[in-house]
Amino acid sequence: MIGTPQSAVRALSLVVIAFVGAVASSRPGAADPSPAASVLKNPADFLSISNPTERSRAIFNEIGKVLTNPRCMNCHPAGDHPTQGDDRHEHMPPIWRAETGHVEVSCSGCHTTHNITLHEAATYRSIPGHPRWGFAPLSMAWQGKSLGDICRQLKDVQLNGGRDLAALQEHVARDDLVGWAWTPGEGRKPAPGSQQAAGELVQAWIDSGAECPR
Ligand code: HEC
Ligand code: HEC
Repeated sequence: MIGTPQSAVRALSLVVIAFVGAVASSRPGAADPSPAASVLKNPADFLSISNPTERSRAIFNEIGKVLTNPRCMNCHPAGDHPTQGDDRHEHMPPIWRAETGHVEVSCSGCHTTHNITLHEAATYRSIPGHPRWGFAPLSMAWQGKSLGDICRQLKDVQLNGGRDLAALQEHVARDDLVGWAWTPGEGRKPAPGSQQAAGELVQAWIDSGAECPR
């Protein structure tokens, strides 16, 4: 007797995790290839740029340090799969998105409502978790795009979930799934700065005209 279908799925997921951990740990050292910046500048650091358009672009470049950090990028993939780790390798085990016509396994089978620290040997020290864990839709895909293109796409209400600039700022500054990137669990480097600092930069970008890098 194996209880509810849900507990069977959960049990299977854990077996898969243990298996992946074992396989992954036999890979030669997947060291961090890109020591990402860990600090963010303040809006005040950009006041010396007197031309507002140039100032706005420079501020967006700073916001880009957050957007292109692996903690955000891994969930905003352009292809079929999310990615993992600072080297953004394809998610293990392989999973696909429903949007491209594939069967999408429920993330919550493995990603629960909170980060879970592991105690057994694996290449990763924790499994990320959040109640709304899931793929960003393809219209919000960032991987493989220039920062200018990400910026234009972010501003496009047809693509960004119908958000005006104020709603976009609110999302970056307060959404708790975005906030996960600064509390990503054992063994994962947080996004640079803080969620509050990122929110302040987005506000300063809007106040200077919300210009996009070319
Ligand atoms: C069978 C288990 C399993 C399922 C199902 C699963 N994941 Fe994962 N996922 C993991 C494990 C384990 C890790 C941690 C691995 C690591 O950090 O190397 C992980 C890590 C991730 C990461 C990397 C976070 C980071 O910044 O490194 C992303 C993104 C992710 N999963 C997205 C998803 C999405 C989206 C779904 C659902 C469509 C999903 N996962 C379904 C097991 C799973
Ligand atoms: C666990 C996966 C996940 C992580 C991690 C994640 N996002 Fe997202 N993101 C999503 C999903 C899902 C949506 C779509 C949901 C919605 O529109 O509310 C989204 C939407 C967005 C949007 C809406 C507009 C658009 O066009 O993208 C912004 C802005 C955003 N995320 C910023 C971030 C930032 C900044 C980070 C890192 C600090 C981040 N996200 C990390 C899953 C993620």
